[in-house]
Amino acid sequence: MKRLIKENIYNVSVIDWNLRKFHGPSFSVKNGTTYNAYVVDDRDITLIDLVEVEFFDDYIRQVNEILEGRIPTNLVINHSEQDHSGSFMKLLEIYPDINIYCSKKAGLFMNKMFGIEFAYNFVKTGDTLNTGKYNLAFYDMTMLHWPDSIATYLVEEKVLFSNDAFGQHIASTHYFDDEHGLVKCLYQAKEYYANIIMPMAKILANKLNELSSLDIEIIAPSHGVVWRSYVSEIISNYASWANFETTDKVVIVYDTMWGTTDAMAKEIALKLQDKKVCVKFYQFSKSEISEIVTELIDAKVVMVGSPTIYGNMLANLGYFFEELRVLKPKGKLGVSFGNYGWSNGATRRIETLMHEVGIEVLDTNISANFTMEEKDYDEISNVIDEVVKRMEEM
Ligand code: FEO
Repeated sequence: MKRLIKENIYNVSVIDWNLRKFHGPSFSVKNGTTYNAYVVDDRDITLIDLVEVEFFDDYIRQVNEILEGRIPTNLVINHSEQDHSGSFMKLLEIYPDINIYCSKKAGLFMNKMFGIEFAYNFVKTGDTLNTGKYNLAFYDMTMLHWPDSIATYLVEEKVLFSNDAFGQHIASTHYFDDEHGLVKCLYQAKEYYANIIMPMAKILANKLNELSSLDIEIIAPSHGVVWRSYVSEIISNYASWANFETTDKVVIVYDTMWGTTDAMAKEIALKLQDKKVCVKFYQFSKSEISEIVTELIDAKVVMVGSPTIYGNMLANLGYFFEELRVLKPKGKLGVSFGNYGWSNGATRRIETLMHEVGIEVLDTNISANFTMEEKDYDEISNVIDEVVKRMEEM
């Protein structure tokens, strides 16, 4: 079945229903994803982006249904990562004379990936391509999220083919945002943003300013649903995430050995609940790190807890900090907590790692010796009072 997103513009996406990890082991995907590609049917037919190689047959079947024997003139590669370019060589086998438009970096990367030298047409901001009645305008999206990224704007129809920006992992036969509802679409976009785009937040904030001059009716990203009803909402949320706008929210991340750090985490959550602060609570070994970093975007405070083991924190929490080193959330206040037996090393280690990943550390931690005593409950109350005070100032 042909899937129109607007007159003469087709969605030829494929659905990867069984995907559970995306872009490496950290990003958990509950229900799969889509690799989105599009066809602009004009005098010169233009294919926009491709799909993962194992889905090429599904993709080309959809393209053939639209083209009915006609030959496409152009292929735009907005970004050369394998989920969008993997089937490049298969497409070239069918259309060896197709004109390819991409950034210089994308051409370089694809030559390396596929072991070829190809005569690409390199494009950058300010370049356009006339396809008959339509014009495609190209926009440099460097580091959003690769150095090769561009976006393509179909001027007459006001459609932005944004590639990974504004993407989400919604795998569904319903491919428009309003078929899923705003809350679901925004959460999925936020999770995608946190795990893929967040390290480039500053670049994104500047780029959103640049793109604000465009009149955009539809955003057609390379994953998930097409934005047609919630365009202003996704753009304003992207601006908010890019600027790390925060709310009174505390993310608690901890792990436990014999239960005392677990009890401390729960007491901290109760105290925050008493203060009507939003709490997100994660025992790290039972949680998805991709969900934790999603909640961190707009949290003011992160509290990390571990028992001490041989002078250090539990090793699995190192994974959490390495992920923060990669994803670079900004503007957070950190508090460490944990219990110990004969020496207290975990909270110090957590504070060191917080410093290293750019989290401001509250100068008081919460430490219990073996078990929680009355003084530890009092200490938690005092620290939470301080946290709430600091959140009011943030
Ligand atoms: Fe969806 Fe950066 O690839």
